[in-house]
Amino acid sequence: MRNINEDNITQAVIAAMSQCSNDRLRTVMTSLVQHLHSFARDVHLTEDEWFAAISFLTEVGHITDERRQEFVLLSDTLGLSMLVTTQNNRKPAECTEATVLGPFFVPQAPRFENGEDISNGAAGAPCFVSGRVRGLDGAGVPHATLDVWQSDEDGFYDVQLPPGSEGDIEPRARAQLQTDADGRFHFRSILAEAYPIPYDGPVGQMLDALGRHPWRPAHLHFWIQADGHEPLITHIFRNHDQYLDSDAVFGVRSTLIVDWLHHEPGVAPDGTKMDVPFYTVEYEFVLNPLGAHA
Ligand code: BEZ
Ligand code: FE
Repeated sequence: MRNINEDNITQAVIAAMSQCSNDRLRTVMTSLVQHLHSFARDVHLTEDEWFAAISFLTEVGHITDERRQEFVLLSDTLGLSMLVTTQNNRKPAECTEATVLGPFFVPQAPRFENGEDISNGAAGAPCFVSGRVRGLDGAGVPHATLDVWQSDEDGFYDVQLPPGSEGDIEPRARAQLQTDADGRFHFRSILAEAYPIPYDGPVGQMLDALGRHPWRPAHLHFWIQADGHEPLITHIFRNHDQYLDSDAVFGVRSTLIVDWLHHEPGVAPDGTKMDVPFYTVEYEFVLNPLGAHA
C-alpha cells in the first residue's frame, strides 16, 4: 500500500481493518472512518483547523477526571447523547419518555423511606414530590427502585461542591427509594432550579464560540428500575422555565414538563406544618414491559 492519495485513502483505511474479527467493531469503525473522511472533504479541513481540533480534544481529556466528565458534556452539547438515548428507547406512546442521564448520577445513593426528606441540607425552597409508577396495563408497579437526584438552589449537584465541603462528604438531594405496594412514592426535597452545565472548560469555550448558552431548564432526575420492565432514565422539567426551548443538551420532551405548584405556609401534603412557602409536584411514570417495542 503505497502512494495513497486523497481519492483512495478512505478505502485503504477500511481495507486495513478488514481482518478485524470483531464484526461489530469493524462495522462501527468502517462507518466512522467513512464519515470522518467525508466531513474533512466536505469542509476542506485545513491543517490549522485539524490541529485546533486535536488541541481541543486534548483539553477535554486534561480536564476530565472521576468528578468532571468533559467528554460526556461534549457528547451532550453536540446532541449525540440525546440521539443515542432516543434511538435506544423507542417505546409505545403511552410510556414515559427517556432523556439524558447526564454526568451527575452516582450509584448506590443513600436509601430513604417514602415520606423522608432527601435534601440532607441542600439549600432550596421545600418541595414535596409524589407520584406513581405503573405499567402499560395501568397497574401500579410495587417495589420499583427510584434513584432521584437534583441540584440545589445555586444550581450545583453535591458532587460539584468543593472537595472536603459538607455537601461533598455526604450526599445531598440524592436518594434511592422504593414504590409501595400500589406503585406510589413520595418524598420531600427542594425546588429544582435552572442551572448552567459546567462551562469553565473547553466545552464552555466551544458553546461561547458558537453563540450558545450553557443553561438547562429546572428538572428532577429519575432512574426507575423494576422487575419485568425496561429501566427508565428520565427527568421531569418545571413548566414555564425560560430554557425549556433551548436546553443546552437537547433533553426536553413536552410529555415530561410538569407544573410545580407554589403554596403559602400551611399544611404540606404529608401533614407537615410548614411556616415557609413550599412547592408540590406530582408525576405518573409509565414503564415499558420488557421485550415490548414501539
Ligand atoms: C444534568 O442534567 O445533570 C446534565 C445533563 C447533561 C449535561 C450536564 C448536566
Ligand atoms: Fe441535571
